[in-house]
Amino acid sequence: MKCQLIAAAVAFAIGCHAIPTPATHALHEKRSVIPRLWERGSRIESDAILPVRIGLTQNNLDNGYEYLMDVSHPDSPNFGKHWTADEVHDIFAPAQDAVEAVRDWLISAGVKATEIVHSDNKGWLAMNIPTWQAEELFQTEYHEHIHSDSGAVKVGCDEYYLPDHIRPHVDYITPGVKLSATLKKSKTKRSSTPHHKPGPFKKLPGHFSHWVPPTAAGTLPADLQDCGRNITPTCLKALYQIPNATIKDSVNQLGLYESGDIYSQEDLNSFFADYAPYVPQGTHPLLDSIDGGQAPVDPGSEYNTGESDIDMDIAYSLIYPQTVTLYQVDDNIEAFTDGGFNTFLDALDGSYCTYTAYNITGNSPGVDAVYPDPADGGYKGPLQCGTYKPTRVISVSYGVSEYDAPLNYTRRQCNEFLKLGLQGHTFLWASGDYGVASFPGDDNDNGCLGDDSTIYNPSFPTCPYVTNVGATRLYDDQTVLDEESAMQANLGPGAELFSSAGGFANYFPVPDYQKSAVASYFEYHDPGLPYYTINADASNIGEGGGLYNRVGRGFPDVSANGAEFRAYNNQTLYHFYGTSLAAPIWGSIITLINEERTLIGKGPVGFINPTLYANAWALNDIVNGSNPGCGSAGFAAVKGWDPVTGLGTPSFPKLLALWLGLP
Ligand SMILES: *[C@@H]1O[C@H](CO)[C@@H](O)[C@H](O)[C@H]1NC(C)=O
Ligand SMILES: *[C@@H]1O[C@H](CO)[C@@H](O)[C@H](O)[C@H]1NC(C)=O
Ligand SMILES: *[C@@H]1O[C@H](CO)[C@@H](O)[C@H](O)[C@H]1NC(C)=O
Ligand SMILES: *[C@@H]1O[C@H](CO)[C@@H](O)[C@H](O)[C@H]1NC(C)=O
Ligand SMILES: *[C@@H]1O[C@H](CO)[C@@H](O)[C@H](O)[C@H]1NC(C)=O
Repeated sequence: MKCQLIAAAVAFAIGCHAIPTPATHALHEKRSVIPRLWERGSRIESDAILPVRIGLTQNNLDNGYEYLMDVSHPDSPNFGKHWTADEVHDIFAPAQDAVEAVRDWLISAGVKATEIVHSDNKGWLAMNIPTWQAEELFQTEYHEHIHSDSGAVKVGCDEYYLPDHIRPHVDYITPGVKLSATLKKSKTKRSSTPHHKPGPFKKLPGHFSHWVPPTAAGTLPADLQDCGRNITPTCLKALYQIPNATIKDSVNQLGLYESGDIYSQEDLNSFFADYAPYVPQGTHPLLDSIDGGQAPVDPGSEYNTGESDIDMDIAYSLIYPQTVTLYQVDDNIEAFTDGGFNTFLDALDGSYCTYTAYNITGNSPGVDAVYPDPADGGYKGPLQCGTYKPTRVISVSYGVSEYDAPLNYTRRQCNEFLKLGLQGHTFLWASGDYGVASFPGDDNDNGCLGDDSTIYNPSFPTCPYVTNVGATRLYDDQTVLDEESAMQANLGPGAELFSSAGGFANYFPVPDYQKSAVASYFEYHDPGLPYYTINADASNIGEGGGLYNRVGRGFPDVSANGAEFRAYNNQTLYHFYGTSLAAPIWGSIITLINEERTLIGKGPVGFINPTLYANAWALNDIVNGSNPGCGSAGFAAVKGWDPVTGLGTPSFPKLLALWLGLP
């Protein structure tokens, strides 16, 4: 037996791929190129122990959407009956017969039964076996793969084989082909800028030139007379009729994601003193540090660029005495390059670390941060998996272009949002700030796609299982009694077309809950721009001169004020602009609503989109403004849903009534 194995190994070592694989085996996976920045090194020693993970085919993913609607659609009798983490794992776990079939095969091939572990999330069989045995099982040879930047070493193979009767049960094996193939991008070029754009927002110094208050302002209290030029918590409360918060309970902490930007307590204190004196000096979030994330920093720190400051300013001023949980994600080296949000999701749901879907298992090195981080000052611990319990509501004001990640990578991640939605979590995500483009430098100088940089570039996550939040504004001569417009402003070089990001995803089709809203947008307000219809692997972006995908998931879903917000950064008072402001406003409002539901014994609202699309009356429709970019007109805010401001801004009393009326 042993001799035979060595013979087989030698045959492989001389590269003899003509060696007949047993007739019972067939090629399961093969990669044509080694992922960028990874180079193949030496052959793994045959006695070296490999941690082998066999990802079993997941069941029920196709039913995921129906499951989520079942607990999230207001007309469903099961509305609000969210699932436990175990229930989610069980329903998506591979069928028992698949587990048995693979286990039986492994044992018959010589793996000790006691070596084989079935993972907690049911999706995996794991075992530590010598390389020679893995090479025999999978008819392959293993090599080191070395990352040219970080020096990290991974084990992998170019192709591997499985018995025919096992293949249907196996999604993927690691070590194996590991990285998903990069998306074909024949016509477009990609920038070398880091993936992760810290915080889509822009800050401008305050301006105090001579100014005549709007006529209507005279009838308003003094602290509401200046909201057209200076947005404060008082202005936000008036705009959306948000009551003063009073509740602090143990289940409704608001979660904020931050990465690469770090708050300063001094900046929060200055904001509280000036604009939210009911928040005591020194009030700070509970830190859930993920993979080396740290906070706070001194106001003058290079890491204090404003995003975290404003997110916390808004959250505390709207929900205090409720507390805030800060997910500070990634060490200060990876925080600027980790494009994926995967390390964040790993820390919230341990099963995601090894989750297999769409031919991808676990994180994707090259897109995601890798821990331990070999870089100087990098986080030396292992990747955090399932370390923290996610809060019910999480607001994220960071994004990258959808196009920066492979299609399957984004789909796998989107499934995770679906699973967290099933468990009652609400994700609010800033849509981005450059209208129909991504931020300048993302993919192209102007953030657009295509040879001529004219194709619209949606910002991820365009996943239909998160709530995507655009921004609105008041103009100088307006008051909180006026209707807002889409956030649009010329903020100087590079940000002349700063506006609420919106459009249509290339990677995700329009979800059922949004279909009629999008259809009526095209029926009554067709933007008249050339478009294309995306194909299954999203390889025809821009086909036939089209600027956007006519059949994509439309975004944003909703919006809120994102202009002229007064806040301190590095102890200086600025005006902040961006959808970064809008996401925490919605996060705060959903938190306040969950608190009221908690008081009467109800659970969290969970994934809110189906409820909102079915009840557009509970929002203030925004009908003015647009988001031009990429050399064309972009989209316009119109009556009903639109790809600039979504369904509109919140009316707190209406939303509260709506959700108190649901089970
Ligand atoms: C994984 O990808 C390969 C080709 O890239 C394909 O042949 C195989 O069917 C895929 N596996 C699954 C489960 O989709
Ligand atoms: C809310 O709080 C502010 C002070 O922070 C106060 O001026 C205002 O009257 C309060 N509103 C209500 C309805 O209690
Ligand atoms: C913060 O402000 C101080 C004082 O104005 C200044 O010296 C410092 O460079 C600033 N820090 C950053 C990162 O800009
Ligand atoms: C994407 O996932 C699908 C479904 O698992 C698979 O068939 C396909 O090969 C994957 N594509 C790539 C590029 O890996
Ligand atoms: C409508 O939006 C335009 C910018 O597109 C702005 O100049 C104008 O003041 C807005 N009108 C109102 C009534 O808000």
